[in-house]
Amino acid sequence: MTMTTPEIERTLRALRLSGIAATLSTRVMQAQSTQEPFLDTFAAMLQDELDRRRSRLTERRFKQARLDERLTLADFDWRFNPRLPRQACFELHTLKFIGEGANALIIGKPGTGKSHIAKAMAYQATLQGHTVRYVEADTEFARFALASTAEQAALLRAYVEPDLLVLDDLFLARRIADASAELLQTVVHQRYKHRRSVIVTSNRVVQDWGKYLGDATMATTILDRLMHRAAMLEFEGKSYRLKEAAARIALSPSNDA
Ligand SMILES: Nc1ncnc2c1ncn2[C@@H]1O[C@H](COP(=O)(O)OP(=O)(O)OP(=O)(O)O)[C@@H](O)[C@H]1O
Ligand SMILES: [Mg+2]
Repeated sequence: MTMTTPEIERTLRALRLSGIAATLSTRVMQAQSTQEPFLDTFAAMLQDELDRRRSRLTERRFKQARLDERLTLADFDWRFNPRLPRQACFELHTLKFIGEGANALIIGKPGTGKSHIAKAMAYQATLQGHTVRYVEADTEFARFALASTAEQAALLRAYVEPDLLVLDDLFLARRIADASAELLQTVVHQRYKHRRSVIVTSNRVVQDWGKYLGDATMATTILDRLMHRAAMLEFEGKSYRLKEAAARIALSPSNDA
């Protein structure tokens, strides 16, 4: 007994083989035109299924990471700020630090690409099969403070469980609320205990963290854990934002005179 094409497609979907279903008609035509051996066609169909599953998983991990853009190191212009720790960035990009449960602190001047690099690492991690959570620190901490107890418990899990947590632009608004400081402490302590990696970016030098946390001891316990196994990257140089703004002004028609 043979099946019709629609029946085969229905069966494939019932078996959750949507990758094979999607390319079935093309593969049939291809097999007919090339007269290739059956096993070659079959292997290609299995590969279609694998490809589809892999890209869906990657897409799901990207969504779970809450990254707003897919930045990569390829988009980065290393000539703009020649003093950036390029070597260390590429070392991070290997993601070995995630396997080691190590951290990275990216500290330095505004607009020098700290968030760009952190997001590129996070994106690369999702592509390599790691679970990731990207957090714009100030915004998320404020959101956390307003959440219900149940929501807070869920958020805390979301910050503690992934293989990599990115805390971006920490202390952007300088002093953070006591509840946020406690959250930061809990997250860092928990992740340290489980040897899970954190990338922090900030334009505030670590010496001042005590001031922004409103508690010097807390700052020490947080920094102690963050820096125990950590790469320290210093971003010196000029702001890429200012360069882009200057380019816009130069291009604006009102500037022709
Ligand atoms: N060298 C670079 N090449 C290409 N784009 C860059 C470079 N440096 C920064 N950018 C871009 O400039 C913008 C600002 O960079 P980014 O947000 O990473 O800076 P930052 O160091 O995190 O600044 P802040 O301390 O204010 O948070 C981003 O759009 C980023 O992609
Ligand atoms: Mg930033």
